[in-house]
Amino acid sequence: MSEALRIGIAGLGTVGSAVIRLFDEKVEMLTRQYGCPVQIVAVSARNRSRERNINVNSFIWYDSPEELAVSADIDVFVELIGGETGSACRAIKLALEAGHHVVTANKALLARHGVELAQLAESKGLLLNFEAAVAGGIPVIKVLRESLSGSSISRIYGILNGTCNYILTQMEEEGLSFEECLKNAQALGYAESDPTFDIEGNDTAHKLALLTSLAFGTIISPENIYVEGISNISLADIRMADELGYRIKLLGVAVKTDTGIEQRVHPTMVPTSSVIAQVKGVTNAVAIETDLLGELLLSGAGAGGNATASAVIGDIADIAKSHLCFQHGPVFGTPANALKPYIKAAVRFHAGGYFIRLGVYDRTGVFASLAKRMAENDILLKSIVQQPVVETQAQGTKTIVLITHQTAEAAVRRALAAITQDGNLVDKAQIIRIERFS
Ligand code: HSE
Repeated sequence: MSEALRIGIAGLGTVGSAVIRLFDEKVEMLTRQYGCPVQIVAVSARNRSRERNINVNSFIWYDSPEELAVSADIDVFVELIGGETGSACRAIKLALEAGHHVVTANKALLARHGVELAQLAESKGLLLNFEAAVAGGIPVIKVLRESLSGSSISRIYGILNGTCNYILTQMEEEGLSFEECLKNAQALGYAESDPTFDIEGNDTAHKLALLTSLAFGTIISPENIYVEGISNISLADIRMADELGYRIKLLGVAVKTDTGIEQRVHPTMVPTSSVIAQVKGVTNAVAIETDLLGELLLSGAGAGGNATASAVIGDIADIAKSHLCFQHGPVFGTPANALKPYIKAAVRFHAGGYFIRLGVYDRTGVFASLAKRMAENDILLKSIVQQPVVETQAQGTKTIVLITHQTAEAAVRRALAAITQDGNLVDKAQIIRIERFS
């Protein structure tokens, strides 16, 4: 290995360009902090001549990320291409096989191939760092992997997608439509190249899968996450939630239960007074409940070039330190070969309060039949509110919101199936889970 640590960056989008610009601006400070000279020497992207706010002419150019990954010009391969399979995945494998440390922001890829890649990295004594993959600039991976090694974690949850939190905040504060808010988030560079990944909850699920493995020492298991996005949340839901003292947040939650680990991603009613409800805009937050610390909450910028580049630069710092003294730990905190099998606790076992919004026909006996179905399933109601009629509402219909006390998911599903069967509903019921928060 050469004396200076030589970096190759694959992918020159928002994050890749920000890393190069920040390296240029902060080179002296970084060299001091890293303890050895660190240089970006080579880059790779799809299109060399694309207009960028950085000058790429001083770097060795590779047309293919795979060629960069195996190049003898570099010591560290930084993957900022994105995508679960394809060249990002091939290039990371090749880089590790070639003996290069790897830094990646690719949550989708790690959620799917993280264990296999960690095994490869650990078998070669290399680092595979991915701070930028979860919650943008928030250093949560380091906290879980290193700082909390003496604590047992019972629950980890958070706002893990900046795009969704930005949309929900804009809808609430500006009264804008979902579509307008999504367009703004895309223009600001928060959204994935396919924004359905954001709004349908997949991006949050990928990040949650990584947090779960780190928190509970289990094999990464994205296929065992219950996922529901925010695309069907309307301004009516947001206004009703506000009247009842709640905000709607897209949360990723992983809980250790008696039967296994429960993982879920869904819109959640959080009390307006709770700390998590104050997390607005593109900000992310991760709450970690531990035996020794109680609840720890980390919050900060969850998306965008600078925030994500900050995490990439921090990961390179760790590699620079290991470059000097060759000491580092396993990729997911627990050695990849010792990760325990993931045991799934079904989301149906989730117990909590529920917000249920029902569009019903305005006729005699509807309230009574709703109450009957709830009672049959032992669901205690905290409140029933009839929403004032709005202009857009169909004639002869009304909107009713039920807030339940703590109850089981399965009971709610049974009650709603019966209510649907009764024929009083105008459209599909909206259910949003209420989470217990300090
Ligand atoms: N699309 C992601 C978000 C980018 O909105 O949070 C950061 O992972």
